[in-house]
Amino acid sequence: MATEPSYNDVYRRSMRDPEDFWAEAAAGIDWDRPWDRVLDATNAPFYRWFTGGRLNTCYNALDRHVEGGRADQPALIYDSPVTGTSTTYTYVELRDAVALFAGALAAQGVGHGDRVVIYMPMVPEAVVAMLACARLGAIHSVVFGGFAANELAKRIEDARPVVVVSASCGIEPTRTVAYKPLLDDALDLVTEKPRRCIILQRPQLTADLDPTRDIAWDDALAGVGPADCVPVAATDPLYILYTSGTTGQPKGIVRDNGGHAVALNWSMRNVYGIEPGEVFWTASDVGWVVGHSYIVYAPLLAGATTVLYEGKPVGTPDAGAFWRVAAEHGVQVMFTAPTAFRAIRQQDPEGTHIDRYDLANLRALFLAGERCDPETLRWAEEKLRIPVVDHWWQTETGWAIAATCLGIEHLPVVPGSPGRPVPGWDVRVLDDQGRELPRGQTGALTVRLPMPPGAAPTLWNADERFRETYLSAFPGYYQTADAGYIDDDGHVFVMARTDDIINVAGHRLSTGAIEEVLATHPDVAECAVIGAADELKGQLPVGLLVLKAGVERPHGEIAAEVVQMVRDRIGAVAAFKTATVVPRLPKTRSGKILRATMRKIADGEEYTPPPTIDDPAILDEIAESLHPSSR
Ligand code: COA
Ligand code: AMP
Repeated sequence: MATEPSYNDVYRRSMRDPEDFWAEAAAGIDWDRPWDRVLDATNAPFYRWFTGGRLNTCYNALDRHVEGGRADQPALIYDSPVTGTSTTYTYVELRDAVALFAGALAAQGVGHGDRVVIYMPMVPEAVVAMLACARLGAIHSVVFGGFAANELAKRIEDARPVVVVSASCGIEPTRTVAYKPLLDDALDLVTEKPRRCIILQRPQLTADLDPTRDIAWDDALAGVGPADCVPVAATDPLYILYTSGTTGQPKGIVRDNGGHAVALNWSMRNVYGIEPGEVFWTASDVGWVVGHSYIVYAPLLAGATTVLYEGKPVGTPDAGAFWRVAAEHGVQVMFTAPTAFRAIRQQDPEGTHIDRYDLANLRALFLAGERCDPETLRWAEEKLRIPVVDHWWQTETGWAIAATCLGIEHLPVVPGSPGRPVPGWDVRVLDDQGRELPRGQTGALTVRLPMPPGAAPTLWNADERFRETYLSAFPGYYQTADAGYIDDDGHVFVMARTDDIINVAGHRLSTGAIEEVLATHPDVAECAVIGAADELKGQLPVGLLVLKAGVERPHGEIAAEVVQMVRDRIGAVAAFKTATVVPRLPKTRSGKILRATMRKIADGEEYTPPPTIDDPAILDEIAESLHPSSR
């Protein structure tokens, strides 16, 4: 009997002969035209995969499964405790819904290469809209519902969509969020308006439509026929997903069609151990990369069943929500962010809800989006008695850089580490000069180029920004902007970001973007935002404000105003609730703000003033402002 290849075998093969490795994986996808080159290095360091090849991602996610015998298998299960609904779409039903909506988009003038912005809550129509764009060869850009009008406007301005697809409202456990007024405000801010807005009217709150621009989802479908799949180049963009950079201008991460389909399809079996026909559930949001890859594309490309959950881990209605969903839909593998488990554990430390449900089918839990503290990992392992796998990736990479690949070899998980590099990813730890560091030493986590298929080839309309941001610090390597080390056994440890990105409840935020908002307050002379450790959300943003000379207003009033400004301009998702007035910001003699020291102060940790500080006394004053009388 042939033995299964070990992780080491598979990994080495992916490094030794990447073209052969990924060409073999590409056989899992249906191509309209085979590629001329597997890996095209003509424009290195901008690498392209499968150049010359043509395919349609929607065909691969839906039609081929319908034609291949899965027509009546559930493709998507929508479970929505916030509306009390649960609906199942088989592959043929989802294919038909997508083809019809693609017809509606085409009727509004959307074609190959056109952009469509999707600003929607976690409803099946969001998935339908994404796949309908893919069907036409159009490029979708989904904007997370928790962002405010101003953030939505920045994305619309950059992507210049022909059509925006949105909904009348989203439903949070404690309130109904009216999306349409946010969209209207965003459109007031942009210079080039979309031709049409298609609005899904939800019964919980309907929206007023502008007859010159808006059309209801149902009306957009009336009288149109289904649209066929349009084959596109493997290198054509499938989507743009904006993510936080160091400034307030988000980065439009581009995903191609070919490499993405190949990598995601490969990952389902090899990383997650999921076979066609099995049930995979990612509890995230379609507005994030985790949702793009593992709610929508990967499970469907692989012929699995995906669960779309419109609810929270707690409060909808209780800390047993995840176990109910997993039990009711026979989920085999699930994926979420550690923060969700911290929330569940906080409310149900003994895990008593778990015993109320039959979780016999559930065989693994994957976590990502932020560092998983070993305590949370152990709690989940102990309560669920299944492998709990932390894995590390980014919007840019599209899928896991490091993981324990359950479909290849079931190696033990080391708490605190998201596992070893996934086949295809040549992870290296470098010092400031770009020299490779020995095992165990902390440095910049990088990936030696080329990155495998599925990783972002560039930024939307911004090749230079891509090169500058990711490829220039260490020529020949992609800079992840995470710092960490690799141990003697090859486990990667991801310890911190090297830039001003913070991670709040698994949501990636730019402190720079929040600072840009604070700086516009008329009383603020200078400000800094730092990520302070938080037991539930991992990190929370804290604002430090230096007021202009002569401002006499109560500090609490100013703090409340900036909190509201961040909510209005960035969105509730920023979870910005704390701002405090300080006399000065601590700086080096050359004027650099000492963020790391302030982070320590905010976390209540011991700190020593760096030798370069211009005024050491300010640190104690800041500590007093953040933790009054605790010192
Ligand atoms: N549309 C509109 N508003 C939204 C939203 C959406 N899609 N998602 C979140 N918000 C709002 C919330 O209502 C909340 O508003 P509030 O300040 O009025 O309470 C705010 O944004 C912050 O949301 P969140 O960070 O989700 O905090 P929470 O307190 O509502 O819930 C958790 C905390 C831990 C339960 C929640 O963060 C969670 O489920 N996390 C799972 C992690 C996850 O999905 N990560 C994605 C990457 S994998
Ligand atoms: P995003 O682009 O929103 O997916 O955020 C990516 C960032 O989240 C990474 O660069 C890391 O800083 C962090 N991150 C994601 N997954 C992990 C993980 N498993 N361990 C540690 N950090 C993680």
